[in-house]
Formats: sequence, structure tokens, C-alpha cells
Amino acid sequence: MSGHKNDTCPFWVGYLLINPMRNLYQNPKRILEPYIREEMTVLDYGCAMGFFSLPMARMVGPGGKVIAVDIQEKMLRTLVKRAKKAGLANRIETHLAVPGTIGLEGYQEKIDFILALAVVHEVPDPVHTFTEFHSLLKARGKLLLAEPKGHVTRENFEATLAMAEKSGFTLESQPKIFRSRTALMRKS
Ligand SMILES: C[S@@+](CC[C@H](N)C(=O)[O-])C[C@H]1O[C@@H](n2cnc3c(N)ncnc32)[C@H](O)[C@@H]1O
Repeated sequence: MSGHKNDTCPFWVGYLLINPMRNLYQNPKRILEPYIREEMTVLDYGCAMGFFSLPMARMVGPGGKVIAVDIQEKMLRTLVKRAKKAGLANRIETHLAVPGTIGLEGYQEKIDFILALAVVHEVPDPVHTFTEFHSLLKARGKLLLAEPKGHVTRENFEATLAMAEKSGFTLESQPKIFRSRTALMRKS
């Protein structure tokens, strides 16, 4: 329908994604500081080994929570080890999703912010995913969507945005993230 590839990122790529060199061009704090505040409940969708989840846990502080969601249990296990080592495990809750659904029962309208970075092109039904995001977010909650330029053409990204809009999101801005097509969207 929109050129979605649906290939899941292999487990070994998870190690490349947590390479500290990545901080130089996709720095989590710099990317996320306009949106994340202390005490928020935030969701890192397609978190892999937590390159973004751990900094997000620092940003929400001891009174906040990060829900780290992935479909690969091995990614989540490595994330938990890294979170324990960093002293952040008590702020991060992991959740194993299945490809077709997030299934975070009990979190409807409880989430302030969702990050979906380099993952939506892997999901089988983005409209369903955006609809789930919409019901998980609080009123006026935000979604930062970013897709890698190497995998997602401008045309496909526009089709993805149309799906998000169809699911009840409004485009607010398109922040700059290295080699990414982006959209900051608000629940409307
Ligand atoms: C390319 S990696 C990006 C990881 C991370 N966001 C980052 O930028 O470091 C994509 C991740 O999304 C996960 N994923 C793929 N399909 C998913 C789905 N339907 N629901 C949740 N996670 C998914 C993969 O298992 C993989 O860990």
C-alpha cells in the first residue's frame, strides 16, 4: 500500500544501534529535550536495546516512567541489562509486543509522549499502530515519528503521515534529525 517493507531489524543490528558514536549525529537528549519533562510517562516504540530508552529514563527523572516496547525479546533482555548497569531499571518497564498490536492494556490515555524512531516502516499495519498510539496518548499528547531516509522514500513517508492523520494526528512540525524524515504530531 505505501511501500512498507515489514522486514524486522535483525538482533545483531541492535548492537550497532547502541554504538556511542551515534550520539554524535543522533543525540537522544538533543532530539528529545523539547518534548520530555520530569515525571512524564513516555513510550519508546521499537526500542531495540534502548539507545533512546535510557536517556529518556534520565529525562523523566525518578518520578517518571519509560515504557520500552519491542517485538524481539532478546532486544528487551539486553535493554534491561543495560538499564540495570546504568541504575535506571526502576524507571523502565519493558513490554513485548506482537507485530500486529502493541497491546498495552491499562495505559489508555496515560502516556504523554511517544517516540517511534526507525520502526514504523517495519510494522505490518501502520494505521492500526497509529490508532493504538492515539488511544494510549493523553489529550494533546505528542508523537515524534522518524524514519530513515535510506529505507523510506519521501513518497512513502508522506503516505505514512497520511495514515497518522487518518488515525487522528495533526502534524505540528518536522524537526531535523540526521538522515531522517520526521514528523512531530499531536493527538487531535
Ligand atoms: C531499526 S530498529 C530501531 C531501534 C531504535 N528505535 C533505535 O533507533 O535505536 C527497529 C526496532 O523495532 C522493532 N520492531 C519491529 N516491528 C515492531 C513492531 N511491530 N512493534 C514493536 N517493535 C517493532 C524491531 O524489533 C527493532 O528492534
